[in-house]
Amino acid sequence: MNALFNLENVPSDSFRWGKFLESKQIDASTGLPKLIPLWVADMDFDVAEPIQMAMSRYIASPRFGYATAPANLAHLICERLSRLYDWQVDPEWLMMLPGVVPGLYASTLVYTQPDQQVLFPEPIYHHLHLAAAMFERPQQAIPQRHDTSQGRARLLLSGDDLRDVCTSQSRLLLFCNPQNPGGTVYRRHELEALAAVACEKDLVICSDEIHADLILDPTLRHIPIASLNNEIAERTVTLMSLGKTFNIAGMGLAWAVVKNPELRAALKNLQGLLPSPTGFAYQASLAALEQGEPWRQQLLTQLRSYLPLIDDAIARSQGLSWLYPEATHLAWIDARDWEQQHRRSFMSTLHAHGLALSPGEQFGAPGWVRLNFATTQPLLQEALARLVSAAAD
Ligand SMILES: Cc1ncc(COP(=O)(O)O)c(C=O)c1O
Repeated sequence: MNALFNLENVPSDSFRWGKFLESKQIDASTGLPKLIPLWVADMDFDVAEPIQMAMSRYIASPRFGYATAPANLAHLICERLSRLYDWQVDPEWLMMLPGVVPGLYASTLVYTQPDQQVLFPEPIYHHLHLAAAMFERPQQAIPQRHDTSQGRARLLLSGDDLRDVCTSQSRLLLFCNPQNPGGTVYRRHELEALAAVACEKDLVICSDEIHADLILDPTLRHIPIASLNNEIAERTVTLMSLGKTFNIAGMGLAWAVVKNPELRAALKNLQGLLPSPTGFAYQASLAALEQGEPWRQQLLTQLRSYLPLIDDAIARSQGLSWLYPEATHLAWIDARDWEQQHRRSFMSTLHAHGLALSPGEQFGAPGWVRLNFATTQPLLQEALARLVSAAAD
């Protein structure tokens, strides 16, 4: 992992770093970029050495025809799901995908008829609501409550709130756990309440669990909703990937776990629209599965060490508050009071102070901003200093 920020380490094709010209210009007084881009969710950390070595080995044989999945890939994924989440998955239930996002869209397409309603919590990672819009399905956002029953406030979709919005048209719940944004890790009883409603209302659940490996609160454990019981497993499609965890999102490999053979067959019917992962992605994922755990532990230690820094910066910023995340490397910051007091956009003010974050509108929550803190400590500290000065502006 990088100890210090170095612009030379930024990939020349980085989407996050490439969006704003000022991100590649160094401010002479600080030695840091004029605009720090902490928006899209990838990381400023070099991938684990075993992944780098696997990539070198792969390009040593310079023929890149169609690739097959490594023979033990599915077995290693299942072994990992058992070890980390106590979830027993048969390799037969897996379907490889080029990303979690294609899995969200594909699920929306194949599990709903045009008149069937898609439900999703709000605020939410934008592709969950864009998927429903894309296929012109009736859709219903379910506002999440700010639950304090577990201590600090956290976004929560409750079973009762889900039941309240269900109609006879409701068919698919697009769910996200750990939640992006906000970083909620659902507790077992909360998942059981949602699962009970899904069974009662005959819903299919498509559960985006891409952030499962990034639990920051060491007292918590990720629970896949499909692992609760057989009834819920039969109606759930779980989408997972190593992309976030190991900073290989750009490689393009994810998987769906689909126990129900009919649901699995429906998804497999779309295979022509869902290209197989590339050989690069297979080899990187294999290396991550076999040898990535020490790197992931180091990453978690680093991300956890940042939480008090962010908390302190927010506490020093009048008009701002945040939801202390239980998981993910994403800080969800409430700037509504600030905007009300100052009568202007906090995002634009941040931009003028050299910080580019994701706007809350993207997730269905105007007045909020999302900060991706998977960066080096010097860069994060500078970003937080800019946030504090923007709030004081
Ligand atoms: C909740 C969630 N799902 C999916 C993705 C993207 O998944 P993929 O790159 O595998 O399509 C992201 C990326 O930020 C995410 O936060």
